[in-house]
Amino acid sequence: MKIDILTLFPEMFKGPFDESMIKRAQEKKLVEIKIHNLRAWAKDKHKTVDNRPFGGGVGMILMVEPIDQALKELRRKETKVILLTPQGKIFSQPLAQKLSKEKHLVFICGHYEGVDERIREHLVDEEISIGDYILTGGELPAMVVVDTIVRLIPKVLEKKEAVQDESFSNNLLEYPQYTRPANFKGQQVPEILLSGNHKKIAGWQKKKAKEKTKKRRPDLL
Ligand SMILES: C[S@@+](CC[C@H](N)C(=O)[O-])C[C@H]1O[C@@H](n2cnc3c(N)ncnc32)[C@H](O)[C@@H]1O
Repeated sequence: MKIDILTLFPEMFKGPFDESMIKRAQEKKLVEIKIHNLRAWAKDKHKTVDNRPFGGGVGMILMVEPIDQALKELRRKETKVILLTPQGKIFSQPLAQKLSKEKHLVFICGHYEGVDERIREHLVDEEISIGDYILTGGELPAMVVVDTIVRLIPKVLEKKEAVQDESFSNNLLEYPQYTRPANFKGQQVPEILLSGNHKKIAGWQKKKAKEKTKKRRPDLL
């Protein structure tokens, strides 16, 4: 998969994309991520990419022209362009699973007061929000969405079961898990998990996942 990210703050991506699973996925060439400074597509010598909204209002908004130019250069036939915006569809594991099958994703990170409405109306294929709250910019949402998608690309995680049984994958939360010590201050790990009977353990895990989901997230069932 190829991912292009359009942002005014490329430096913010250093760290999260240079560590752990995302770093290894790039090294193994399972994903190619490029961070682009939107100012590269500004028309004037001051590299202006934002301006005051017509009709007044607080703050600046991102202009349509630099984003249009950037997409002219980056878009291919198979490209899906995604705008990070609090007005978008709420991000979820099923949406991440769908996007992990795409060949090329371009993410647009808004900033300041947001973007010119013509961007969302004419230039993007999908709008995604990471929740009903307002962040300063689309950079952190882009990191959240990209991280979630990349770990679902086949071969990124060493064990494919890791993404099959986890929370939200089957409309369930994950079953409870424990590690050593088996007894911590009198809090005993369920006996069945120490039994070595894998069939019984799998049955217990399924039952507990259902119970937990019913208690904490009945909306998933
Ligand atoms: C300060 S916000 C602008 C909010 C805008 N004035 C509104 O009321 O809808 C600046 C940018 O941060 C990003 N952003 C903020 N909250 C977000 C969220 N919950 N999900 C996705 N992107 C978000 C978007 O790219 C947005 O354009």
